[in-house]
Amino acid sequence: MDSIWTMTADISRREPLLEDITTDTVVIGGGMAGILIAYFLEKKGIPTVVLEASRIGSGQTKNTTAKITLQHGPIYHKLIGEIGEKNAKLYAEANRLAIAQFRSLVEEKRIDCEFRECSAYLYSCEHTDTLKKEEEAAVSLGICAELTDKTELPFPVKSALKFYDQAVFHPLLFLERISENITVYEDTKVLQVERAEEENKIITNRATVRAKRVVFAAHYPFINVPGYYFLRLHQERSYVVALKNTKQMDHVYIGIDMEGFSFRKSGDYLLLGGGGHRTGENTGGGSYQKLRKAAEKWFPECKEITHFSAQDCMPLDDIPYIGQFSSSTPDWFVATGFRKWGMTSSMVSAMLLSDLIAKGQSPYEELFTPQRFHVQASAANLAQDGAQSVKGLSKGVFTATPKCTHMGCALEWNPDELSWDCPCHGSRFDGDGKVIDNPAIEDLANE
Ligand SMILES: Cc1cc2nc3c(=O)[nH]c(=O)nc-3n(C[C@H](O)[C@H](O)[C@H](O)COP(=O)(O)OP(=O)(O)OC[C@H]3O[C@@H](n4cnc5c(N)ncnc54)[C@H](O)[C@@H]3O)c2cc1C
Ligand code: FES
Repeated sequence: MDSIWTMTADISRREPLLEDITTDTVVIGGGMAGILIAYFLEKKGIPTVVLEASRIGSGQTKNTTAKITLQHGPIYHKLIGEIGEKNAKLYAEANRLAIAQFRSLVEEKRIDCEFRECSAYLYSCEHTDTLKKEEEAAVSLGICAELTDKTELPFPVKSALKFYDQAVFHPLLFLERISENITVYEDTKVLQVERAEEENKIITNRATVRAKRVVFAAHYPFINVPGYYFLRLHQERSYVVALKNTKQMDHVYIGIDMEGFSFRKSGDYLLLGGGGHRTGENTGGGSYQKLRKAAEKWFPECKEITHFSAQDCMPLDDIPYIGQFSSSTPDWFVATGFRKWGMTSSMVSAMLLSDLIAKGQSPYEELFTPQRFHVQASAANLAQDGAQSVKGLSKGVFTATPKCTHMGCALEWNPDELSWDCPCHGSRFDGDGKVIDNPAIEDLANE
């Protein structure tokens, strides 16, 4: 199914890699993160090549809802408690700067990508406490936010927290322009990266690239060792229906209750999102149905234009992993774990990694470093992720269901997307066994 963005943009095709080449830096993955990182590196004078397994923007980025916001759910109260006020402020500052970078790039390059300023609201129909605490936290960090009970939503709320000066855009129209002068090889899938003293050998399904540095921006880092990202990232999926003939809303909304929905206008359409679950845990299906039922209740005249879904990587402590890939690989870098907030997180990745590579330092490197371990923030999620992986792996050993080619977990059928999804780290395969989403690289074997 086309997303609202693929229906209205068509990024021109790039050639695959046809011969061995040498460059300074290779970025693996041509999504929002990879393209922005490459753009910033080139701007800082670092010759860069992007290797993309499919097409630019064809991963999760084509199915995002594309809100450009530092409001990442109710995060600031939690961050202050877990990493302290100074670091929480740095998180807000990095994301505020990311919004400003989008704004100035769009203006400076006159990018026609439906960029629009708006406010972003968190809302609850059940509680006021969480949002009250979040407001106090946000304001203490210098974020312009206020509590209200007035919204454009089609139902009453108990409370809403409005963040000013946020934005939305069309992610593929933006990527099309920003990637114009970047060297991208499409249909070029990286299979392995071999590291030697002076250079890296990036082996693809077509030819080999030699480079001083490698940036993994392939959504989920698919190299297991070093890095061990499979121990600290799982994926969560959610669903969107695009509707016409609804009440329109100028601002964007996301619910914090169990059955919270997200609302965001795009042109004449309204994107209604929700139904999130851990990837591989949707055997009962019905995620789109839930959205359609809600849409019918609130907007009886509405008509569905399209529906689509995506997933994102969830880090243990709710902070993306952006920085050096592992302590033993000083010339490998990574950008992942965006927790469904990958627009600003991709921009933060581009700012941070381009500074790290070009200047050897970034004001944000300690906060986002993948080498951190915040015990309080990570322990509960680490235990839960570990338990899920053990469950998936033992099922893989004892049952006859298809097994994931990443690390052998038993796959679960997702009737909403007609795909085999892995509950361990979120790889997905289509009905013919072809990989749709990584970290798996290989298709399922035909038996
Ligand atoms: C339903 C939903 C709504 C969302 N809405 C928002 C929102 O409103 N605002 C927001 O900020 N964030 C949002 N997000 C999150 C955001 O969409 C993602 O974080 C972001 O798109 C991720 O970008 P990426 O570049 O990291 O990954 P991707 O877009 O997946 O790009 C990775 C690329 O790497 C390529 N690749 C993979 N493996 C290889 C390989 N071996 N070799 C070469 N290439 C490879 C893939 O083909 C892909 O193109 C949402 C997420 C979901 C699930
Ligand atoms: S994604 Fe890791 S085992 Fe399936």
